[in-house]
Amino acid sequence: MNPWRWVVLGAAGVLVVGLLVAYAAVAFGLVPANADGKPSSLERWAARKSLNATVQREAGGKANPLPVDDANLKAGIKLYGSNCAVCHGASDAKGSNIALGLYQHAPQLGKHGVEDDAEGETHWKIQHGIRLTGMPSFGKSLNDTEIWQLVMFLKHMDKLPSAAQADWKKLPSQESAEHSHRKQAGQPAG
Ligand code: HEC
Repeated sequence: MNPWRWVVLGAAGVLVVGLLVAYAAVAFGLVPANADGKPSSLERWAARKSLNATVQREAGGKANPLPVDDANLKAGIKLYGSNCAVCHGASDAKGSNIALGLYQHAPQLGKHGVEDDAEGETHWKIQHGIRLTGMPSFGKSLNDTEIWQLVMFLKHMDKLPSAAQADWKKLPSQESAEHSHRKQAGQPAG
């Protein structure tokens, strides 16, 4: 028999065993399904790399079509309060119970903002969401003007004109009173 046949058969055998092991890992529940762990570095690397490549490909250098003014910034802050603060926090950057329980940690944008990101990139993330994380896509619930108003607010969050800054400071803290009570009383959560 041609010696190459053994090489090919061997490679096919390794592949089949590999697939069986992967299947068994899923079928027997060995792939973690819980949200209260920490993502492995491989998982984080693959997710980041793929997200960045997709955003680069699809968002390009899209610029914000709206003029930067009080009306748009204030509209963005209002939308942020009703759609985003529950996970990304208010200006005090204190996480809600929901934020604390997410597997992929939701950045508290009042502290770790995205002012340095290109506006097209932030628009893409709000419109499409981020797969396998808690970040929802808002493309079906908000129109394009609303998404760009949010993008504008996030871009200028650290240098808001005074009227918009006052609105931002007024958004209520998301830190849950329940949460701090439990912590103080030393009772288990839930
Ligand atoms: C249910 C929770 C949740 C809600 C609501 C939510 N997000 Fe997110 N968001 C996340 C999580 C989790 C991540 C982190 C994803 C990751 O690790 O890649 C994220 C990531 C982001 C990022 C990228 C941050 C970075 O540092 O790159 C932006 C921008 C963002 N969200 C904006 C928004 C906006 C604007 C809204 C409201 C319209 C919103 N999010 C609503 C959970 C949420």
